[in-house]
Amino acid sequence: MLFSNIKDGDTYRYLVNGKWEKSSSKDLIEVYNPSNGRILAKLQSLSKSDIDDVLKNSKVSQKKWKNTPVNERADILMRAADLIVQNAELLSDLLSKEISKPKHLGMHEVMRTADLIRSTAEEGLRLHGEYLDGNAFYHSAKKKKALVDREPLGVVLAICPFNYPVNLSFSKVAPALISGNSVVLKPSTQGALSVLHVSDLFSQAGLPQGVLNVVTGKSSSIGDYLCSHKDVNMISFTGSTSVGKHIASISGMKPLMMELGGKDGVIILDDADLDLAVKECVQGVYSYSGQRCTAVKRIILVEKIANVFVKKFVEETKKLKTGDPDEDVVVSHLINRDAADYIKSLIDDAVKNKAKLILDGKRKYNLYYPVILDNITSKCRIFYEEQFGPVACIIRVKDEKEAVSVLNDSSYGLQASVFTNNLDKAFSIASQLDVGAVQINGKSDRGPDNFPFPCIKDSGIGVQGIKYSIESMTRLKSIVLNFK
Ligand code: G3H
Repeated sequence: MLFSNIKDGDTYRYLVNGKWEKSSSKDLIEVYNPSNGRILAKLQSLSKSDIDDVLKNSKVSQKKWKNTPVNERADILMRAADLIVQNAELLSDLLSKEISKPKHLGMHEVMRTADLIRSTAEEGLRLHGEYLDGNAFYHSAKKKKALVDREPLGVVLAICPFNYPVNLSFSKVAPALISGNSVVLKPSTQGALSVLHVSDLFSQAGLPQGVLNVVTGKSSSIGDYLCSHKDVNMISFTGSTSVGKHIASISGMKPLMMELGGKDGVIILDDADLDLAVKECVQGVYSYSGQRCTAVKRIILVEKIANVFVKKFVEETKKLKTGDPDEDVVVSHLINRDAADYIKSLIDDAVKNKAKLILDGKRKYNLYYPVILDNITSKCRIFYEEQFGPVACIIRVKDEKEAVSVLNDSSYGLQASVFTNNLDKAFSIASQLDVGAVQINGKSDRGPDNFPFPCIKDSGIGVQGIKYSIESMTRLKSIVLNFK
């Protein structure tokens, strides 16, 4: 059991066939605490031959697992969810250390994941096939009946980013497992510790050996090898658009599920409830320092309300607490110094291109205080580029028509929001937006996790969400009865 045996600074092993092993490469990689730069732990840096062994084991284990009755699989998931709840304090503490996530947000992530696993187990029990009758076809095939079943794909490779290591890992693992797949999970180095701990809880819940294997290492040495490996049957990836496109180019004909970058925009019309819009935008922009694919990355204001909105938005933003993640803050340290340097470059470029810096977030190494940039135009890089940090990007437009055109002027297509008290307008605008989901009078949000989370354009491929993820990790198989 990991929790009782591991202390800060220790070396973790990777999980294969239910055992904690050392890499054959003998190389280790370091996990830092982003809040103080100190080494938190070391991880195994797997070699290609370790990966071969892991995949061989996953393939064998899947054959047995797919024959385990669904209600038994569901029981294991339910027990894992209970154990996650029992260990929620420890896990949220770990999240604050390894990814600088404020404690209350870490706790929310952990509890949400337990709920998601439970709902996935229930949804798996409801999964059923279809019966079709040849009679229904235009040129009636009276003597044919088809039973259409759902089968697992085999070995699912789940690759997860640093920002929601628990939730984004196990929102892939749970649907894969309930539908009879085995999983090879590759977490990001920052975030891997909490993923290894939760994986241990799955073993304690009774998950058979090898059904969930967790590999760690440098993407530069094993990433391409994993994604193009013949024994991987599906890849579910959350991360950057550039890496997603690279994976698509090397993975051959494997089915892909990808949640990539975003540049979610909020349109605020002149009849909107401005207090509500301000509250949602402040949360949407700054929660977990803006390091969320669904963070509000553009605020598009129609002329008439722009000044009033900006005044209120600045006032509310100034109230946010910034600092160490163990305090009750909203904005904490960015994941590393490069992320903070990138933000600085976007701010400098915007100011050079005549944007107004109306809240100048101070910076201490990788800790950025909230920033507000007004009058952003398409000349500024931040108009198009994803900031992934605590920076509000305000764009002023003449009217609704221009607002829609600005919102659609993006390579990304995750979510968008419209704030208005006129439902007709809200629906009319929603139907014109090129995104996977539109929120009316609310900030963008992936949850609740039973909702579909479609990713279009450069934001990804496919639809996540409990039922939709299960469907994407299974394939249809027809058995056709031919009668005499
Ligand atoms: O970073 C991407 C996450 O999917 C964001 O999820 O909308 O639940 O914060 P969220």
